[in-house]
Formats: sequence, C-alpha cells, structure tokens
Amino acid sequence: MEISPDVHWVGVNDTESKFFESLWSIPKGVSLNSYLVLGEKKKTLIDTVNDNYFDEYIENLKRLIDPEDIDYIVINHVEPDHAGSLSKILSIASKASVISSKMGIDFVKYYHQVPFNDISVDDGDKVDLGGKTLKFIMTPCIHWPETMCTFLGDDGILFSGDLFGAFDSIGDEIFDDKIGKDSIYSAKRYFTSILSPYYGSINSALKKLGDLQKPCRVIAPSHGLIYRNDPSFITKLYADLCSGKFEEKVVILYGSMYGNTKVLAEAVSDGVKDKCVKVALFNATYDDPSEILTELWKAPAIAVGSPVYDCYIFPPITNLLELIKVKRIRQRVFGLFGDYTWGGGPLYQLQNKIKELGSEVIGSFVKSQGSPTANNIESAIELGNLLAEKAIKNTKESSALAPVQDPFCPT
Ligand SMILES: Cc1cc2nc3c(=O)[nH]c(=O)nc-3n(C[C@H](O)[C@H](O)[C@H](O)COP(=O)(O)O)c2cc1C
Ligand SMILES: [Fe+2]
Ligand SMILES: [Fe+2]
Repeated sequence: MEISPDVHWVGVNDTESKFFESLWSIPKGVSLNSYLVLGEKKKTLIDTVNDNYFDEYIENLKRLIDPEDIDYIVINHVEPDHAGSLSKILSIASKASVISSKMGIDFVKYYHQVPFNDISVDDGDKVDLGGKTLKFIMTPCIHWPETMCTFLGDDGILFSGDLFGAFDSIGDEIFDDKIGKDSIYSAKRYFTSILSPYYGSINSALKKLGDLQKPCRVIAPSHGLIYRNDPSFITKLYADLCSGKFEEKVVILYGSMYGNTKVLAEAVSDGVKDKCVKVALFNATYDDPSEILTELWKAPAIAVGSPVYDCYIFPPITNLLELIKVKRIRQRVFGLFGDYTWGGGPLYQLQNKIKELGSEVIGSFVKSQGSPTANNIESAIELGNLLAEKAIKNTKESSALAPVQDPFCPT
C-alpha cells in the first residue's frame, strides 16, 4: 500500500496473538508496520516484522521488488516485533547493509547471529538513496535504549518506531482518515502499557522532532495508523500524556472473593461521586491491567482495597501494585481499605507497598471484619470524599512527573 510515490507500507497485522509482550491484551490484534522506500539507486526497508509473520511479509515485498535487491535495512528498534525477521531477510538479501544506532547494531548482533554488513549511524547522519535521502534522529529510550527515528525529508515522512504507536490491527485502512474514539483509546492504551515509564525521553524526542528543519507531513509509526491527515493529532496527544498533568478523577482498585471488599469499594466510589469527581472502579481479578493503567496514568488519587488471603494481600492486588511500580505511577495519594475475618494485620502490608511506590497514604485505613457494618461503610464514604478533595486540589497544583531511574536511560 502506497504512502507516497515509491514509499510503501509492507507490514502485517498480528491477529493471532492474544497478548502483546505476553502481557497486554490485544483483542483486536496489533499491526507490525514495515515500510519500503525505493530510491532511484537504493532499495531500503524500514524495520521488519515479527518472524512468525515472515511468510506473509516476504510475499508483501515480492509484490513490489525482488527481495534479493534490498540494499539497506534500517532498524529503528531491535525488539523482535520489528527486527524479528532480520535473520531471514538477510539470508535472502545477502548484500543488504543493516543501518541502526550504535547500540542498535550491538543489540542486533545479540539476536541475529548471522554475518551482515553494518552501518551505525548517529544524530543527523544521512544516507542517500538516489532522489531520496534518509536522515537519522537519535531518540533513545523510547522504551529500549537503542531506539531512533528515520526521517525521509523529501516526502516529509517520519518513521517513528514505537513512538506514536497504537494497538489494534489496521487491516487495509492504514491511514488516519477515520480517527474515532477507539483509535484514540488504542493509542493511549499502547502508550500507558508500553512507553509511559519513559515519558522523560519522549519529551526530549518530541522537542527534537519539533526542531526538524523540513516539515513533517506524515508520521508512520511501527504500530497502528499512519498519520497523514493530521500528524499533529498524535504529537499533541503525546505532549499531553507526557505533560505530567493530572486529570480530576479517582481510580479505585479492589479484589474481592465474596463481595465484602466490593461493598467497601462501592462506598468509596459513592464518596467520590458525592464531590462530583469522576471515578473509575476496577476489579483486579477481572479487569484488564492495561485498561487499568490507562486510567491510572493521570489519576492524582487512587484507592486500593483487598481482602486478607492466607495472611497476605489478595494476589491480584499485589500484581497490580507491582505493575504500578514497574510503570512508575508515582507521586499519587492513596486511600486504603480491606476486609478480613481473624487477622487484619496483613492489610498493613498495603501501607508499606504504597510507600515503596513513592506515593503517600491519606485518610484512615478502612477495615471491616466479615460483612462491612454501617460504620465501616460510613468510613469508606468519608475516604471517598477525602480522595475526591485531594484529586481536585492536586489536579490544580501538582504534577505526576518523577524521574525514571534507569541507568541506561537517563532523563
Ligand atoms: C483462601 C482464603 C484465605 C483467607 N485468609 C485469611 C487470613 O489469612 N486472615 C484473615 O483474617 N482472613 C482470611 N480469609 C478470610 C477473608 O479475608 C474474608 O472471607 C473476607 O471477608 C473476604 O473478603 P471478600 O468478601 O471481599 O472476598 C481468607 C479467606 C479465604 C477464602
Ligand atoms: Fe518496542
Ligand atoms: Fe513495537
């Protein structure tokens, strides 16, 4: 499918996998976008696809060229959803040189133990394809440290890798002609599931890409729609997601085996609504973690409730708290509640975990023994009131930005 003269989408849609990264549900699949740029002298692939889809991929290429004739394979990102087919492509395109960042070339060698010519590029380096020139822009830590973008200035196309990506297969409608609520949500869900901890690096990348001398008319990411109608739609969405600004809302996460903790969760929710603040209520067993993260990303106030389970916190809640840690959901206020029968002490494990997350616990811990009493419910409503008030205050005054401590990805 043509994007502009001699620039083609040659990707595939992964409709088989139930989870992306074996972690994030993808009920509508995900596209693995690869692009073919045909210069007058040089034929170039931008990224490849997961090697499960190699057969379909090579057919896509054969419709346009003889794959043996490929001169360059640009690897913006070495994660196997994009570079996975490289060994197989190189076995056919034996004269091709692999172009990547310096770290990218190292990473390619870890995954693809086959001989190949390599060209490592740095910021601003260019490769002439004959009538078309590729320029490389180092945008490290767009969730891996080796990542870069490739800009085809002649056509104004930015091949942005995972940056600006989205979940959901795109079928034959590869362009942003019909951006609806679903596509906005799939872009947000992709960001919060995959990229969010690296918002500092994304902000640096956005600034760098904003300084491009030639106008960027098309954004072609490695997942999801290609933005040609309105590329500013996705850059604005990212600027907002990485702004650190809160939205006035409270997210409630609870687990419950027999419905008692759920009664408390609903009372907290009522308390939030009393103050006319938006609330999102999630059951840790049944609700999709990536949907939960999408709501959590801009939430200033969070309530967490758990029953005691074998002297511990209920495991689905522990899992969610681990995800909150990994995805650096920090600088929030938390309210806590829970239910037990013979020993409520383990609920205090929640308090320590929240402190480890770099957030603050507010209000009193609402604990019920067996079925919640009227007093317990009253306390849960008060906790909801308090969280809502804090959500209103912190949305006006505070920021969610906190530095990511990854030695490979300084921000
Ligand atoms: C497998 C299992 C383990 C439990 N372990 C504990 C425990 O260690 N301490 C405790 O006080 N209650 C324990 N309980 C009791 C629950 O915390 C109690 O039933 C609570 O009301 C469940 O809340 P829920 O209705 O929200 O699921 C356990 C219950 C189950 C089913
Ligand atoms: Fe990736
Ligand atoms: Fe990816």
